[in-house]
Amino acid sequence: MSNTQARPPRPVESERTALKARKVSFSWQDTPLHWVPDDPFATHTINVLHLLLPAGERWFVHVYRQALPLIRDERLREDVIGFIGQEATHSQAHDEVLPHLAELGLDPTPYTAQVDWLFEKLLGDRTLPPGRARRWWLLERVALIAAIEHYTAFLGDWILNADELDRRGADPVMLDLLRWHGAEEVEHRSVAFDLFQHVDGSYRRRARTWATAFTALVFLWQRGARFFMENDPTLLDGRASLKDFYTGGKRGVLPPTGDLLKSVPRYLSRSYHPSQEGSTEQAAAYLASSPAATAAAAAEREAGAA
Ligand SMILES: [Fe+2]
Ligand SMILES: [Fe+2]
Repeated sequence: MSNTQARPPRPVESERTALKARKVSFSWQDTPLHWVPDDPFATHTINVLHLLLPAGERWFVHVYRQALPLIRDERLREDVIGFIGQEATHSQAHDEVLPHLAELGLDPTPYTAQVDWLFEKLLGDRTLPPGRARRWWLLERVALIAAIEHYTAFLGDWILNADELDRRGADPVMLDLLRWHGAEEVEHRSVAFDLFQHVDGSYRRRARTWATAFTALVFLWQRGARFFMENDPTLLDGRASLKDFYTGGKRGVLPPTGDLLKSVPRYLSRSYHPSQEGSTEQAAAYLASSPAATAAAAAEREAGAA
């Protein structure tokens, strides 16, 4: 018996919840350039999300629409459809921040053009004949998404608990965007992994695609933070370094480097299941009080009553 069979992933059933997209909207006119006050580095490191997620989450949706016919489990199909709805909304919500950044003097298009190329061309469909090659490329991308979702859930859990940002007076609209998104990432954190396990589940593929996803995320993130720091019109000599990231984590305004590193062996453990990480209850509690999510729920009720 292989090690994989001896220690299978252990889902925590109580962490599962039905998924739905909440049609949120945010108004950005009062959000300052440095929405973490006096901390351009923390602001711009988190702002990298607005560069990566519009194209990245659109790509999730694109890949998952192709994976739907492979699903032989009704419950998982429902989860994947709920996931697609949530990710499509996230992508759009982050995209809507970009014109505001441009108005403040930070034109993101030189960077987003590269990110669009990465997701649409490099990670796009490629011209493959129907059959094994096409299936291999689909499974590879499904596994990559599972690895990335390990980090979106990690970041979601972090932002829900990042009280230091409130203490420092971070912009409430940006915090709500990040926490609404983070809460939905925690809510749906098992879907990508469950889909990967259902259609393939090979440990070698999990490990290989984790390495690719982790390397790419570190590379894109540090480039994005440097891009914003160098182009910030209010900074004379904006720089970004790993040391700044480390100290931001120590101050509580960025994810702690130690926690990020500790999350690596958890994803690579053969008994890993995303439901073991984060709290669905905490995510639901945030969504019940989020200004954007409660406004979306009220609008939905009104539309239903009309
Ligand atoms: Fe998302
Ligand atoms: Fe997600």
